[in-house]
Amino acid sequence: MNSVQGKVAVVTGAASGIGRGCARALGARGAIVVVADIDVAGSHVVAQEIQAAGGSALAVRIDVGEDSSFEELKTQLLAEFGRADIVMNNAGVITRGLPEHIPLEEWHRVINVNLFSVVRSHAAFLPLFLKQGSGHFVNTASFAGLMSYSYDRMPYSASKAAIIQISEGLALYAKPQGIGVTVLCPGPVATNIGKNMPSFGPDTPTRGPGPQFQMRDAQEVGNEVVDAIEAGQFWLPTDYQIREILVSRAADWDAYVDRQIESMK
Ligand SMILES: NC(=O)c1ccc[n+]([C@@H]2O[C@H](COP(=O)([O-])OP(=O)(O)OC[C@H]3O[C@@H](n4cnc5c(N)ncnc54)[C@H](O)[C@@H]3O)[C@@H](O)[C@H]2O)c1
Repeated sequence: MNSVQGKVAVVTGAASGIGRGCARALGARGAIVVVADIDVAGSHVVAQEIQAAGGSALAVRIDVGEDSSFEELKTQLLAEFGRADIVMNNAGVITRGLPEHIPLEEWHRVINVNLFSVVRSHAAFLPLFLKQGSGHFVNTASFAGLMSYSYDRMPYSASKAAIIQISEGLALYAKPQGIGVTVLCPGPVATNIGKNMPSFGPDTPTRGPGPQFQMRDAQEVGNEVVDAIEAGQFWLPTDYQIREILVSRAADWDAYVDRQIESMK
């Protein structure tokens, strides 16, 4: 087991929701937590929460949608701590609309923030981890990247499917070199993600992955993420019932698509 105690751990999107839960869990287990978010005030609040609970934390501003963001973060961490051990690429945004209504610029925005942030992070931190011979990436994907249960958030699900593939490829490459990779695939988790979601075209009914999936608590998910880092676990869904759907889809993909269409009637 790789304890997170004393490790320098960055979490993006840590001012709210799942990122906040992970940052607090890392702090509680003795990591030095870098609370990174575009929401500066929110990241200071979370850093203070960690400190008030007896942990170590530093709030930094990052816009993961900017090309230079992760290189600048790395420079800051090396100046401050001389190393980085855990990088959780968690900041993400969602959008909504029927396929013919979502404008190209919105596709660019979602893919840039959700997917290219992970690309930028790996580009900045993988060379450092390889040099150190250690490190751990956690990339936040989604059930929406594992399967399609709706048709009104395609830029989001496309970005999350790509994050899963990148994470898997990175694990094949980096794990034999001592670097951990975890892909977190959340189902429904109570957070702020839907609050400022842009919407294009007519309203569509909100569809989730299925009634069997209970809304999870972000702090519980944060604790599970730290367990997964310490165990070196690759795939971390927030509900293992997702396996049954994936297995039945793999057995007959056409039947899966037909079942989904039927369930939307
Ligand atoms: N909540 C769910 O049900 C759910 C399900 C599946 C996946 N996810 C994923 O979990 C991750 C965290 O989302 P959440 O649900 O906690 O949402 P949230 O909105 O509560 O938190 C997201 C955080 O990301 C930050 N952020 C947004 N854009 C940013 C940028 N450009 N640079 C830096 N920070 C930025 C926000 O300020 C916010 O603090 C996302 O990647 C999301 O897609 C969430």
